[in-house]
Amino acid sequence: MKKVDDFRLRFGKREYVPIMIGGMGVDISTVELALVAARLGGIGHISDAMVPAVSDSHYDTGFVAEKLKKYKRNVANTDKSMVQFSLGQLAEATRLHIDRTMEARQGEGLIFINCMEKLTMNAPRETLRVRLASAMDAGIDGITLSAGLHLGSLALIADHARFRDVKLGIIVSSLRALHLFLRKNARLNRLPDYIIVEGPLAGGHLGFGLDWASYDLKTIIDEIHRWMTQEGLNIPVIAAGGVFTGSDAVGFLESGAAAVQVATRFTVAQECGLPAKTKQEYLKCRESDIEVNTISPTGYPMRMLKKSPGIGAGIRPNCEAYGYLLDGFGKCAYITAYNREVDLHPDADKISVKDKTCLCTHMRNFDIWTCGHYAYRLKDTARQLPDGSFALPSAEHIFHDYQYSTEHRIALPPI
Ligand SMILES: Cc1cc2nc3c(=O)[nH]c(=O)nc-3n(C[C@H](O)[C@H](O)[C@H](O)COP(=O)(O)O)c2cc1C
Repeated sequence: MKKVDDFRLRFGKREYVPIMIGGMGVDISTVELALVAARLGGIGHISDAMVPAVSDSHYDTGFVAEKLKKYKRNVANTDKSMVQFSLGQLAEATRLHIDRTMEARQGEGLIFINCMEKLTMNAPRETLRVRLASAMDAGIDGITLSAGLHLGSLALIADHARFRDVKLGIIVSSLRALHLFLRKNARLNRLPDYIIVEGPLAGGHLGFGLDWASYDLKTIIDEIHRWMTQEGLNIPVIAAGGVFTGSDAVGFLESGAAAVQVATRFTVAQECGLPAKTKQEYLKCRESDIEVNTISPTGYPMRMLKKSPGIGAGIRPNCEAYGYLLDGFGKCAYITAYNREVDLHPDADKISVKDKTCLCTHMRNFDIWTCGHYAYRLKDTARQLPDGSFALPSAEHIFHDYQYSTEHRIALPPI
């Protein structure tokens, strides 16, 4: 009976435990969580989502307050085009976050950063260039490009000194998306070092429509493998989305995946950034408590607990402080939805916006409880206490459970 530990992920001459903990913004995949994966010989991710706000809460900076102060007079204005990020502060926040992470790293594993293209920040190219370049400046081991096709992202950093040495990976959900990425970046003569194929059961934003249930991760990976063999391409393919047990992972590794990327199991780890009360909501949820909806202003469907406090809330857009989803023209689908409701209910003290959510504010406050499809099985991974709550497992326990378990068994943490 094979276990994950019988396999290794190879990058050049180096070998790693083939378990990657996926990036979970905003600050859900914490530095502490990523450090555990690296210490145990695998790969951990931090995320650069809303990194100035993350820096404020951990490194004693005041980036959010400063931005809000600068644009305060615009708060009641529906036009947000003037609200811009300071590129210098964005670079500083990224560097602080990565410096603190890399300084604390132990073990033989790696630390990557998850960079979502959909965080367009009212200046998509300029802000993404700064995020990517500062991550490399600060010594990150690898960058995972996500939430977008990233057709122009590599070109933004092609002149960086570390462009050919840093590990660069892309998350795709179809062969078509991979084709597009490779074709658009072909002139740079720089293939990705890994390809994460994220299927329809993942947490966060999905690269599928509301017909997500008609897709299957294994089928997509097989198609990608067949195409890569035809093209003579040999790039590690990493399976993500719904890998809940070590045996699920072995299934993918035996059929040619180089590693698995997992996240939902770690949302209830002690080291995960979600508040303790929210972790209990994840632990006790049932299958019927989870939905895939379209409230994210990014336009991608997102899976979450139906009880997420951010669903249906009608807060005023908070772009002067945050504004991470403003497109290059200062627009966000939540602002449009919010203004529509205000026009419809001019005398209401409080309004509710059902079709979109203010994702920046609600993710920052941990009020959108995104999760993978199998979150309802988390209750089988932790010990229930006499008061009905669950004791949180350590990230090390979960990592080792993936690494060593067989026959779909899930080891409960020791008492
Ligand atoms: C709470 C949570 C937040 C996530 N946030 C992000 C994110 O910010 N960027 C991203 O690319 N993927 C995100 N994901 C997706 C994970 O990185 C990962 O690929 C996926 O969830 C793996 O499937 P699993 O959760 O079934 O193990 C998130 C997943 C979860 C559960």
